[in-house]
Amino acid sequence: MTAWKRFLIAPLALLLAISGAPAVSGQSTPQAAPASGTCLPEGGIPKKDSYLIGMSQANKGEPWRQAMNDQIAAAAAAHPELNVVFADAAQNNAKQVADVENFLQQGIDLLIISPNEAAPLTDVVAKACAQHVPVIVLDRKVNGNQFTMWIGADNVQIGHRAGEYAANYCAQKNLNPCNIIEIRGLEGSTPAKERGDGFREGIASDPNAKIIAQQNADWLREKAIPVSQSMFQANPDVNVVYAHNDPMAEAAIISAQNAGLNLDDLLFIGIDGLPTPDGGIRSVLGGRIDVTYVYPTGGSQAIDYAVKILEQGVVPPDQVVLETEEVTPANAQQLLEKYGGSSAPATPSS
Ligand code: FRU
Repeated sequence: MTAWKRFLIAPLALLLAISGAPAVSGQSTPQAAPASGTCLPEGGIPKKDSYLIGMSQANKGEPWRQAMNDQIAAAAAAHPELNVVFADAAQNNAKQVADVENFLQQGIDLLIISPNEAAPLTDVVAKACAQHVPVIVLDRKVNGNQFTMWIGADNVQIGHRAGEYAANYCAQKNLNPCNIIEIRGLEGSTPAKERGDGFREGIASDPNAKIIAQQNADWLREKAIPVSQSMFQANPDVNVVYAHNDPMAEAAIISAQNAGLNLDDLLFIGIDGLPTPDGGIRSVLGGRIDVTYVYPTGGSQAIDYAVKILEQGVVPPDQVVLETEEVTPANAQQLLEKYGGSSAPATPSS
């Protein structure tokens, strides 16, 4: 949060801020790609006057997930023929399986799912697919390839960029060693592993940058408070805090303050970059989180593809990879405006 930090990677940030379309197709993700047209009935989807879409959300308690639901509802509102029913699994895998079963009983025409954890949700997604219900998997993944398409951002790349940012910081400050603590997302959810793996790649360029402690806080601000408190107690010589999402980064800032650490001597990295009043972009503007990464929810893209699949007979790509942006003090204002700057979800407003 010192002044020089604001200019450290300004040129790169500016370049990223002005670059690019919201989605890039065809990049690789670890899962096997589904065959084109997976889950679609032979002979295509029959024409109907209205379509029922089931949206199975991992939980509604987190702001980013509420933004995803809002974005889906807003995009669907432009299509009066679409009815979207939402279910909230409240972070419970068994509840999410039951939610999807319930949707299938209701006779949904298409399933959108953002799974809580990959393995426990894989079978029920495959079941929907076997019943020829097209499935769009959003953000977190399931295992295998029994779904129609996946939409989300590249979490390995986000982690990698966060790692590079940390390594640059360590080098600029001449920190040897440069001690990093990592606050991780829910273990069985794919972004936690991918963000962790990418970060390790990203810091590899600086041998002084070392992860000295890592703990799980399940993506949750409430859990990250005690978790980070004990991490700071055990590691008062910390230089960088890498949190897998912004709510956990905010929690770590509170704990660091409570532990009497000097916030100006610490780099706080988050991920999500929501443009909402409590979101990451405003946190960067307010000088709390130092850098975050816009993690688009993919809600509007999911509805776009639902329309294509259900109404236009389109066989969608196996995956659509959404772009991220690095948010620093140098470009935060610009990105706040770009993404709407209100309670709007993280999708470019122009
Ligand atoms: C919300 C959330 C986000 C995070 C995403 C990863 O549940 O934790 O903060 O970026 O899930 O799937």
